[in-house]
Amino acid sequence: MIDRILQDLEREGISYVPQLLDESALEAAHHFFEAHKINFSPAKVGASDNKKRVELLRGDFSYWLDPLLPPKELAFMFDFLNQLKKAVNNRFFLGLQDYECHLAYYPQGTFYRKHLDCFERDSSRKLTFIFYLNQNWLPEYGGELVVYNKDGSIKESYLPLPGTFICFLSDEYPHEVRCATRERRSFTGWIHNKMIY
Ligand code: OGA
Ligand code: MN
Repeated sequence: MIDRILQDLEREGISYVPQLLDESALEAAHHFFEAHKINFSPAKVGASDNKKRVELLRGDFSYWLDPLLPPKELAFMFDFLNQLKKAVNNRFFLGLQDYECHLAYYPQGTFYRKHLDCFERDSSRKLTFIFYLNQNWLPEYGGELVVYNKDGSIKESYLPLPGTFICFLSDEYPHEVRCATRERRSFTGWIHNKMIY
C-alpha cells in the first residue's frame, strides 16, 4: 500500500486509497471523537502570527494531536503515518521530517473555500494527508474535496467516504471542501520539511 502511494505521488503528486480504515478503526475513531468534541476549537486562517476566524472562508473545528502521544483509539492511523513518513523521507529528497495533525469536523452547512495548504511566508508543509472518519456518506450529502490544477481547472472531486485516505503535495494542488448537509469528519495533517517537535 505504501509503495503504491509513493508511486502515485511520484507520478501525479496525489494518491487516493478507498477504505484504508476498516470498520473497527472507524468505530474507535468515532468514540474518540465523541469523547473529545468539547475540546475542538474554531479553525482559523492566516499564518501563525496573524490568525483569524473567518467563517466565509472556513467553518470547520479542529483538535490538534501530538504525534508523539498518539491516543490508542487512533493508533492505526498514527502507525500508518509513521510508516508513510519514513517511506516518503527515504524516497524523496524533499527533506521531509515531522508531521502535525488534527481531527476536524465541519458542522452541517460549513465549507472551506479554495486554498493552498502551504503559506507564502512559511511553506514548510510538503505533503497533505486526510483520512475521512464519517461512518457513512451518500453522494447527496455533498462535502466533496475538490482538487484543482494550477490553471484553475478541476482535477478531481472526492466524496469523504468512510475510511478513505488521500494525500497530495501541499504546494501543488489548490483545493476546497464543499458544503455538506451532514457533519463531516476527518483526520488531517501535513508532513513538513523542518523539525516541528
Ligand atoms: C484542510 C483541508 C480537506 C478535507 O484542512 O486544509 O483542505 O477534505 N481539508 O477535509
Ligand atoms: Mn487544505
